[in-house]
Amino acid sequence: MLKLGIIGAGNIGSSHVNRVLAGECPNVTVTAVADRKESRRAWAKERVPEAAIFAEGSELIASGACDAVLIATPHYQHPTLSAEAFEHGLHVLCEKPAGVYTLQVREMNAAADRHPELVFGMMFNQRTNCVYRKMKEMIDGGEIGQIKRMSWIVTDWYRTQYYYDSGAWRATWAGEGGGVLLNQCPHQLDLLQWLCGLPAKVHAFCHEGKWHDVEVEDDVTAYLEFPGGATGVFITTTGDAPGTNRLEISGTKGKLVCEGNVLTFDKLEVDEREWCRTCQEGFRKPDSQHIVVETDGQNQQHSGVLNAFAAAIESGAPLVADGREGIHGLMLSNAIHLSAWTGETVTLPIDEEKFHALLTERCKTSRHKEETDVVMDTSGSYGSKETK
Ligand SMILES: NC(=O)c1ccc[n+]([C@@H]2O[C@H](COP(=O)([O-])OP(=O)(O)OC[C@H]3O[C@@H](n4cnc5c(N)ncnc54)[C@H](O)[C@@H]3O)[C@@H](O)[C@H]2O)c1
Repeated sequence: MLKLGIIGAGNIGSSHVNRVLAGECPNVTVTAVADRKESRRAWAKERVPEAAIFAEGSELIASGACDAVLIATPHYQHPTLSAEAFEHGLHVLCEKPAGVYTLQVREMNAAADRHPELVFGMMFNQRTNCVYRKMKEMIDGGEIGQIKRMSWIVTDWYRTQYYYDSGAWRATWAGEGGGVLLNQCPHQLDLLQWLCGLPAKVHAFCHEGKWHDVEVEDDVTAYLEFPGGATGVFITTTGDAPGTNRLEISGTKGKLVCEGNVLTFDKLEVDEREWCRTCQEGFRKPDSQHIVVETDGQNQQHSGVLNAFAAAIESGAPLVADGREGIHGLMLSNAIHLSAWTGETVTLPIDEEKFHALLTERCKTSRHKEETDVVMDTSGSYGSKETK
């Protein structure tokens, strides 16, 4: 039985406590909880009376009350708390994003590498979704041929002003380090690089406070160029309703489309590159077959990640996502910001010092305030299969 400490019992941290208590993770027991807010500690004390309760993550880490930690604090602290936990001999499951800037995440990964005996996982729960797993299997298996183009419009992340006002850290440079790219999109940016690889170049446009009274970006359009020559577009916002979530990946052998959790494949009879060279008609496309792709239907989300983490510690079973992979999606996120801030096309890996310097400048005038004890009621929002 894995003795787990949860650091941060806010929206997602409390839903992790609840999923363990609901029996979704039979090999995990919550033995410690830490939160800076008195109200959250009171909640934890009532919910898990047998657990040790702390006001600070560092106290929990040093306490010896658990063998592993799940870090569910605001993002800036993910790398520091993870590194601290490794140094205390604890396994780490870190919430997304891995951190706010890649320089900081490199240090976290180096701390993990100093402790190969410890398991390091990242909470990329969307990787458990059968449609994305199937897409990866088909792409890696060569079924769509060479990728030519991808586009992801993910504009169903609607958030109100109330949401942004619910936490002093939210949507501020100093408290969160960004907006929709850092909070809602880490899953999609991770999946994008998981499925298509990291682009080599990015040119992006970020609108800050376009739809909400916030200082960070809430509307983003990015153009991507991949090393193999494929191009891509990534569009996101928290301001559209009802919004769209459509991922389309075109290859030389056909087109995969994921929308509304349905995956379709337009399979070409002949590879388009060969057809283009050999067809003796000017307008004719290669014939194709429209297939609704069958998947295994499994979509275990957070429980799946947590159960795999426990099994990795117990028996070396594979993780859903190794913690060290968190840097890839963040590299893309930082590249999008950097391009938008400088107006330039950015090559990856980015100039990490420059990104950090520009972020630090923004933090100096940030609206970030001290945390209050206010708790937003998000009951149910993080438990569903639709959690993003
Ligand atoms: N995987 C997912 O589906 C998912 C969903 C939501 C949030 N998240 C991630 O989880 C993190 C937390 O988000 P949230 O919405 O739960 O935020 P939140 O503000 O609701 O909760 C964070 C909690 O951490 C506590 N905290 C901060 N620093 C601490 C410290 N050093 N020690 C102990 N407690 C501390 C705060 O008091 C607060 O209660 C974010 O990084 C977010 O991106 C992931």
